[in-house]
Amino acid sequence: MIRTIAWQNNEIHMIDQRFLPHDVRYLICATHHDVIDAINSLAIRGAPAIGIAAAMGIALGMISLPPQATPQEIQKSFHELCRLFISSRPTARNLFWAAERMQERFRLLCPENDQAVNLSAVQKALIQEAQTILDEDISQNRRIGHWGAALIQDGDNILTHCNAGSLATGGYGTALGVIRAAVEAGKKIHVFVDETRPVLQGARLTAWELMEENIPATLITDNMAGYLMSRGKIDKVIVGADRIAGNGDTANKIGTYTLAVLCREHRLPFYVAAPISTFDRHTKEGKDIPIEERDPQEVTAWQHCSIAPHGIKVFNPAFDVTPNRYISGIITEKGIARPPFDVSLGNMCAG
Ligand code: MRU
Repeated sequence: MIRTIAWQNNEIHMIDQRFLPHDVRYLICATHHDVIDAINSLAIRGAPAIGIAAAMGIALGMISLPPQATPQEIQKSFHELCRLFISSRPTARNLFWAAERMQERFRLLCPENDQAVNLSAVQKALIQEAQTILDEDISQNRRIGHWGAALIQDGDNILTHCNAGSLATGGYGTALGVIRAAVEAGKKIHVFVDETRPVLQGARLTAWELMEENIPATLITDNMAGYLMSRGKIDKVIVGADRIAGNGDTANKIGTYTLAVLCREHRLPFYVAAPISTFDRHTKEGKDIPIEERDPQEVTAWQHCSIAPHGIKVFNPAFDVTPNRYISGIITEKGIARPPFDVSLGNMCAG
């Protein structure tokens, strides 16, 4: 299994996803600023992976405090670190969820106005919490794979979008975790990978992961999915998620909504695979999910080579929202939620 991110000797080591598929290069983050840059620049990306990176980044920031830091300085630094990380990308719920987990752990050790803070104990506990978030993510992905594999038939042709694999998580993956688990269960399947413009997470990352594991796959451009469906070449679509609203509306990589609508037209099942940490009970509907807009250069250039006329106006939303009515099921570590999602997801989150 590809290890996306690890805490090693008080540094964070991560695969630098900007160089894949041709160069497997590791980025070593020695400061929390390095981690924030890595998240902003998509060196690490994918909702669960950036949540883990943020948790580790907060721990990394805290270990740089001098031993003589006062309780007030410790409080201030911790809250500033959390603020920096939660403003690094706006859509993925897991980023906020991970920061909240770190805040809970911190609050227990460092109640406000406490004058006797053991900094070294706080630092150890925060490193441990970040590591636990990573370990739990991998085991949750395996459970998502277990439930999701039951939805896959021998001989299926599955289309996936973006990268919801090991690289987007602590390891194993969500949508790709389901595919991996089906293969591990002996099912013979084939995966269509769409390239996922503008940053090509499908072509660069998902295609690479599948080839590394010899899972049969074919790369297509984003605009080919409808044609393939109309020819009966696709049996189902499985994608990951960045944030799932209380009613099941799902934000995921731009282009996901188009695939869901195509599935409805062709009467194909459309599944979302995501851990409970992606659910946002406080956001009732998809229209309230903040959608990140990224640098226009992602659209007008590829690897610094211009592909559009200079000065053209660009719109570059990184995500879209698929309304719950197009989603056949949401595969979580606790089982498969079915419509109505406000009820099924509500029960899962409570249980
Ligand atoms: O912009 P990215 O590459 O971070 O977007 C990633 C996605 O949209 C993934 O599908 C999603 O985070 C799920 S990853 C398990």
